[in-house]
This record gives sequence, C-alpha cells and structure tokens, in this order.
Amino acid sequence: MCGIVGYIGTKRATEILMAGLEKLEYRGYDSAGIATIEAGDIQCVRAKGKLFNLRDKLVSVDSIAHLGIGHTRWATHGKPEEYNAHPHMDTALRIAVVMNGIVENYRSLREELKAKGHEFRSDTDTEVIPHLIAECLMGIARQDLGTTSKFLTAVRLAVSRLQGAFAIAIISADYPEEFIVARQQAPLVLGYGDGEFFCASDVPALVPYTRLILPLQDGEIARLSPLGIEVYNFAGDKLKRSPRTLNWNPVMVEKQGFKHYMLKEIYEQPGVVRACLAAYLSETWEVGTAGSPIDLKLPTALFKDIEQIQILACGTSWHAGLVGKHLLEQLAGIPTTVQYASEFRYSPSPITPHTLTIGVTQSGETGDTLTALDLEKNRRSQLDPSRQPRLLGITNRPESSLGRLVPNLIETHAGIEIGVAATKTFVTQLIAFYCLAIDLAYQRQTQTPAQIGELVTGLRQLPALIEVILESQERYIETLSHEFSDTQDFIFIGRGINFPIALEGSLKLKEISYIHAEGYPAGEMKHGPIALLDAKVPVVAIAVPGNVYEKVLSNAQEAKARDARLIGVTVMDDPEAALTFDDVLPIPAIPDILSPILTVIPLQLLAYHIAARRGLDVDQPRNLAKSVTVE
Ligand code: AGP
Repeated sequence: MCGIVGYIGTKRATEILMAGLEKLEYRGYDSAGIATIEAGDIQCVRAKGKLFNLRDKLVSVDSIAHLGIGHTRWATHGKPEEYNAHPHMDTALRIAVVMNGIVENYRSLREELKAKGHEFRSDTDTEVIPHLIAECLMGIARQDLGTTSKFLTAVRLAVSRLQGAFAIAIISADYPEEFIVARQQAPLVLGYGDGEFFCASDVPALVPYTRLILPLQDGEIARLSPLGIEVYNFAGDKLKRSPRTLNWNPVMVEKQGFKHYMLKEIYEQPGVVRACLAAYLSETWEVGTAGSPIDLKLPTALFKDIEQIQILACGTSWHAGLVGKHLLEQLAGIPTTVQYASEFRYSPSPITPHTLTIGVTQSGETGDTLTALDLEKNRRSQLDPSRQPRLLGITNRPESSLGRLVPNLIETHAGIEIGVAATKTFVTQLIAFYCLAIDLAYQRQTQTPAQIGELVTGLRQLPALIEVILESQERYIETLSHEFSDTQDFIFIGRGINFPIALEGSLKLKEISYIHAEGYPAGEMKHGPIALLDAKVPVVAIAVPGNVYEKVLSNAQEAKARDARLIGVTVMDDPEAALTFDDVLPIPAIPDILSPILTVIPLQLLAYHIAARRGLDVDQPRNLAKSVTVE
C-alpha cells in the first residue's frame, strides 16, 4: 500500500519521480505528491486523487531540482484529501517525508511533539516523522555524530522511536546533497545508476533507469548522495552491502499495445505457465524414467515424514491455496488446511508436529501473510529449538520480504504483474501446487507411475490449451459482456477442485466491475443462497466432465428452474452442456483435476470485459491496492 520513490543525480528529479510514481500507482491512488529541493527550499506539490491530478498541477511548476521524493497514497490514517497527501513536512518546512506503512504509536508522539510546539497540518500518522526528525536535529550534540552526517543521525534517532511497519524517504533543505531512507517491515529497493541513485517501493519504478538494485532489509537505513549509497543498521553501524543485477527489462512494465495491464497479463498466461513448468517439470520425463518428473530444488528434509500441511494466504492466493489443498489431499494423500492469514494471526490453530506450513503470496509483501508466517516460525522454533521450522513460500517475488522470512521458496516465474486483479500470478501459483503435489505423490507412491504420467502429459498441454481459449473465446466473451452492463448480482458455482475457481471468478468480477458476486460450492445453493435467484441474477456454473459433473449440471438446473440465466464454463462440443446452459464459455477437454488452469481463463475475461464495458479503471479499481502491506 502506497508507493514511494526518491532520486538524486544529474537529471531533473520531477520527471523521474513522476515516471516512478506512474509505475507504482498500482499500490494506491487516493492522492499523490512530490517534494524537491529548489534553491535552498523545499518545494512540495500535492494533489488529491490519481496521479494525473498531480501531473496537471506540475505543468505550471518550473523545477530544476536534482533531488526529490514522491508518493502515491492508499489512505489509512486520514481521509484521501490533499492536506493528508504526502510528502509531509515539519513546522519550519525544512524536512519532507514520504512513507509506506503505519506508525502505530503516532498518537502519543503527536501529543509529545505538539506539547513541544510543533504544528500539525494533517490527520496522518506520517506527519509525526518530519517533526520528530526536526526535534532530533535540534537535540544532537556535535560529539554524537560519529562518522555519519547529522541528518542521518537525526533520522536514525527518530526512527528508533517509531513503532509499526514502514518504509520512509526523507529530504532536508539543509542537506541538499543527500537523502535518507529507512525500512522496517515494508518494502524498499535502492537503485544504482551512473552518478545517480534511486529508491522505490518496487522495482518497476527502477527498471527504466537501472537493473543494479539492492533491496533494503528490515532495520536498515541508507544515505543516498551523488557519491553513492551507504547502508547502516538502526544502531548506526555501517554495513557492507552489494547490489545485484535484476534480469528484467523495461518492456516488461509497459502495456505493449493492450488497453489495460490486466488484459495483457491474461494474454501472458500461456507464456508464464510454460516458464513455470520449465523451471520444475522435466522436459524429457516419461513413464518408466527413473526419479520424479518434478524438481522443486528444495531440500528433501523439508518434506520428510510430514503428516499434515497448513496453507496461509489472503485473497486470490487463498483461492490458489484451496486448489492446492485439493491436490495435496487427493494426489498425495496429505491432510491439508487452508487458512486466511488475517484470521490465523490472531487465532492460530493448535500447533501440531510434522507439519509443513506454506505461505502463498504473489507479492511476498502482504502484511497479514507475513505476520502469520512469522508467528508460525516463532511457535515452531519454540516447540523444537533443535530444528528449523518447516516453512515454504510460494511467491512471484523471491526478492520480497517473504524471501527473507522463509528459508524455502517456490518461485512462480510469472513476471511482474501490474494490474491490481491477480491473473497470471494465480495460474502460476496453481502450477506450483501441481508440481508440489505431483512430486509428493511420487515420493509417497500415492499415485501409480501411469497416473503421474497422465498428469505430466496434461500439464505439458496446458499452455497451448490456454492459447486456444484466448484465441477462440475473447471476442465472444466481449460481446456477451455487453449484456451484463447493468447487472447487479452474479452467482458463481463449482464443486470439488473447481469450487475455488467459482470463488476466484466472483472475486475478479467484484473487485474490478463493482458488481456484487458470490462464489458457492454448487451443492450448497439449496441450503440458502438459492433464495437470491431470479431472472435478474445470472449464475455462472463451472461444469467439467469428471466425478462431480452430473452433480453440477443438476445444481445448474435447479438455478434454471428459478429463472436464473445460466452461463456454463464447460468443455467444447458437449451436447448435454449445450442443452443446460443459456451461454457456454467452452474450454478444451482436459482431466477435471487439471481443469482449474483452464476454467479460470474465461472467468478472468468475463470480469475484464464487463468492467471495461462499464468504463471502469480495470487496472486500478477503487479502494484497492496491489500489495496490502497494512493490517
Ligand atoms: C487479487 O485479485 C486481489 N487483488 C487480492 O485478493 C490479492 O490476491 C491479495 O491481496 C493477496 O495478495 P498477495 O498474493 O500478494 O499476498
């Protein structure tokens, strides 16, 4: 939530800050602002709403500054008004701060600072920071400086008083040759250019300028100047840190001719599924080949003697976890629970031995998921201090906070996802679970080699089958979407492994089209929700031939008997489906255990086209942010 950027170098800072904020706008868009140092003073320009409002304001502002910070906000403390927009400044207007995160003890700090004469101008928690730094600067005696600058020391002292999770960037008009950043449980990446240095909440803001990056770690503070970057811990000790080269290119963060990032990302799915499979599934394995077809590059001890698995995640990643549970139980025979990380962190399940905990988070930065995993890590270390807790992360961002929290990762190789609605990261999370479940099934011999062979063959076909759906269905779905421009409610039903896809289809629709939608196990409709149905409530049923096919068709008939318009996600050329459904969104024939990778595609397209038809901001839906780093 919230995106921050910072720049020092030889170019005009305003342009670089604005370009960076554009790449970070997915993190929040309630307001935006930048602060630069102009002729010895701070110039701060802020605007309510999306970034274009700030851009409009900047047209009349002439800036030649080579140093500045910027922010795009997802409101937590204080309404999304201009006076609450970042950057925030101290009373004397000499210090400006941007923050991603929350200062939990801001109330007491605010009272303390007010009593000392500091004037507050916003309702935000962030504003305590510039005042606190100003106070620390006043209090620093020369002999306390050590080898670090007075500005850095003041920031360090101020940060030590802050409780919460935050990443901050600070400039001061009195120190026009440097800016300071600090990180405590919120992402912040530093970028190394040629005589210029950057900071940003996420790498897409940096890749147009550099691929040499350094993710700052918790408890670290850095000073960026034209001479380079120095990193310290909060105690003031200088640390030796080296940047690494990112294998991204700037084209990856462009729309490449698509109207929205979401549509581009839907179309990238065949490619990213291929990439994810290439990372873990042997190209040459066939029935009779020795060894597992899967190599997750994880230590075997992680899985030795496990008796159960618990999965922790939020939102779409939680839906991926539900598919994972089905696979781990049905293929590998391992009892598996899936919990909302936001619930688990306050009511964790009783701890059980021989348990593997899997955290699923595409961003690797979701606050609830990280806290739940951290809790689990501590609980398990206390239970058995002699061994490392068995923790595994499934993520698209191995360089994220998750990567530092858990020792074992399955990377999903989806590439950067910018649309707030997760699409390609979801299907690759599913691929990660297929690979994990098949590998465990192989190790535990819960599936015959022939059964494993069928799964492997099916997995290899998936990218081409997704292409078939995209090529044959998009036009039809776009036309169909016109009929739902005024629809107010949708129901999605599915059973077995496709129940989570009903949940995912309904989440996609509600988050980008603002249409109320519910996902249900098809068999549960008769226990209550069927009362909602009439001719105005379309029902989308996921009905794929397999062990629950007839059941789902019967449940769909029950909805039809209540006048609901029936849309079926089912296999191509199925006469029974053609008779049952008013509209068919066909997928190629596939064993039902592999079908979620295909059934979700028409649902993503349906949600996308309904939202686009309604003229909504598909990539940045209201009230949402791509990575939810706050509670
Ligand atoms: C997905 O479309 C959502 N925007 C959201 O539910 C998301 O999946 C959730 O916030 C979890 O994110 P994560 O995977 O980065 O942890």
